[in-house]
Amino acid sequence: RTPSFFRDETFRGDFTFENSPESIRRFPFPFDRDQYMYAVNIEQHMPGPPKSATAFPIDIDEHYVAEMADRAKVLAEDPLRCQSLPHMITAEWDLLELLMTSMARDYPQWFSLHRDGDRWHWVNRPLGIDQRFTFGDAATLPYGPMEYVTRQCQGDFCLLDQRDDNLWLDAGIVTSQADWSLDFDLGMNFIEWHGPVPRAHDMGIFERALKFLLNLQIGRPIRRLNWTMTINPRLDTSPENYHRWGIDRTTVTPENVGDKVHLRVELQALWRLPRSNAIVFSIRCYLIKMRELVTVPKWGRRFHRVLRDLPADLADYKGLTNYRATTLEWLAPYDDGAPTSPGF
Ligand code: HEM
Repeated sequence: RTPSFFRDETFRGDFTFENSPESIRRFPFPFDRDQYMYAVNIEQHMPGPPKSATAFPIDIDEHYVAEMADRAKVLAEDPLRCQSLPHMITAEWDLLELLMTSMARDYPQWFSLHRDGDRWHWVNRPLGIDQRFTFGDAATLPYGPMEYVTRQCQGDFCLLDQRDDNLWLDAGIVTSQADWSLDFDLGMNFIEWHGPVPRAHDMGIFERALKFLLNLQIGRPIRRLNWTMTINPRLDTSPENYHRWGIDRTTVTPENVGDKVHLRVELQALWRLPRSNAIVFSIRCYLIKMRELVTVPKWGRRFHRVLRDLPADLADYKGLTNYRATTLEWLAPYDDGAPTSPGF
């Protein structure tokens, strides 16, 4: 095997996932102050600094090949992780265009796309794929257009249909989710699928966010960060597989915190799609173990404070109540009590 930028690693079984020092430096640390509360934390999806997670609209990193292998395993076991209602086919093609053009433009060393009218030629070197197809003709691809392109792109994707002043979750591929189910949520609207979230409904957050999204313009994507915690670097923490990973939450000890407990950050971006007027919602998951996190002193200090002061209902909802105290004890030596300044 020739050495490669892409890591050979697993997100299940022996859990060999790790971040390189470069990957730690570019981790999208989500806290801009020492406390956390829900907010309408939406900003324009503008290019960030070179090499950062937001340098390009679609972020491909060293975990790409391993993540795509994990997605293929999830889909082989459970095809319902990828579903699309019939009226979403135009949005699927919109998504394929968005991802292929972004990836080929921003990572020409790995991907290329040649278009001659509706005759397209896509090359994906890391995954060894060379595909000619007719844009708009699903019979010329081995999967539907959404499934085809998202088997080759990191992150989960939801396609939202807009009608009746609401957004409807009518298609998606969801294999690396923080404990929610596409099969359960398919066909629900924005307010319905957010039903289980504590506080945010009463704070008016979903009402304001929805209003904002209904006016999302073509070519002006937006993004936000969300976070939770996960035991072991497991991408597929789905309700469908809860019997496999739920028990992990009871296995955290003072000895294994540094390696087992992960901060899980979702970089979520939303684009208006041109042909369908649908919206695509991408959920790109970044994992970092506590031992890696504390190599950046201001992150260790701040995360200790955020976790310590997180309201109990949010901690319960995020599923981290079981191992919170053990993690806090482990983090405490990394918090020297120094004041921090707002910002990342
Ligand atoms: C949680 C989907 C946009 C705020 C969730 C959950 C889902 C979801 C499935 C988990 C709910 C559960 O427990 O079952 C989506 C989709 C979106 C979207 C498909 C695309 C339109 C937004 C936006 C906001 C937002 C724009 C802005 C405020 C939240 C919050 C949570 C949440 C605060 C709780 C997260 C946590 O505490 O870990 N979302 N969401 N969502 N969503 Fe969204």
